[in-house]
Amino acid sequence: MKLFIDTGSVTEVEEVARWGVLAGATTNPSLLAKAEGDAGEAIKRIAEIVGGPTSAEVVSEDPDRMVEEGIAVRTLHENIIVKVPFGPAGLEATARLRELGHPVNMTLVFSAAQAILAAEAGATYISSFLGRLDDIGVDSEYELREIVEAVHENSSGAQVLAASTRSPLHVVKAATAGADVATVPYKVLKQMLNHPLTDSGNAGFAKDWATKPELAEWLNGLVEQSKKNA
Ligand code: E4P
Repeated sequence: MKLFIDTGSVTEVEEVARWGVLAGATTNPSLLAKAEGDAGEAIKRIAEIVGGPTSAEVVSEDPDRMVEEGIAVRTLHENIIVKVPFGPAGLEATARLRELGHPVNMTLVFSAAQAILAAEAGATYISSFLGRLDDIGVDSEYELREIVEAVHENSSGAQVLAASTRSPLHVVKAATAGADVATVPYKVLKQMLNHPLTDSGNAGFAKDWATKPELAEWLNGLVEQSKKNA
């Protein structure tokens, strides 16, 4: 499963991109409204940094205008994917954008029935929301598994993108359910780093290493030598 970052913040993307784990990014109107500065510049920079698919969402409810907005956001960067909200207007806009050669991430998908329609309309990515289903007491893992099965059975080649991930467990469930991608907020990506045994393990190694100073001298010497030989 590939990992995207779900954000409107260039600073967050810069930090996480250094870990070498990001294959793309998603934004949405709420995330961009929270971010500082020019939205177009932020999307462009994010697309540049992640070097992969970066979703920018249309906001109109009219299919003609959705198509216009989609074509416009595609001019920002070659990595841009047009994010289109699910519904009759969104399906129409998706089909038309696909026809024109623009890739679409169909968002706000909550059921396998909706996912089948999104796949048939030509969406490249289908954003299946987890957290928002949990919020209303629906088993998001069950829905995601059904969406993955329905979409992968479909011949369109659409990919399931697990969205609205609110915890490391959501990301693990997305991977084990067979999602192609999970888009994950900065806060959750940071939480994914944590394990108390990693911390205590590192502390133990550092403490034991420090008991024999000649080990540090040996390693420093080895580093210097390898730099000279490089
Ligand atoms: C990303 O594509 C979605 O817009 C986002 O994951 C929604 O997350 P939320 O339900 O936590 O707002």
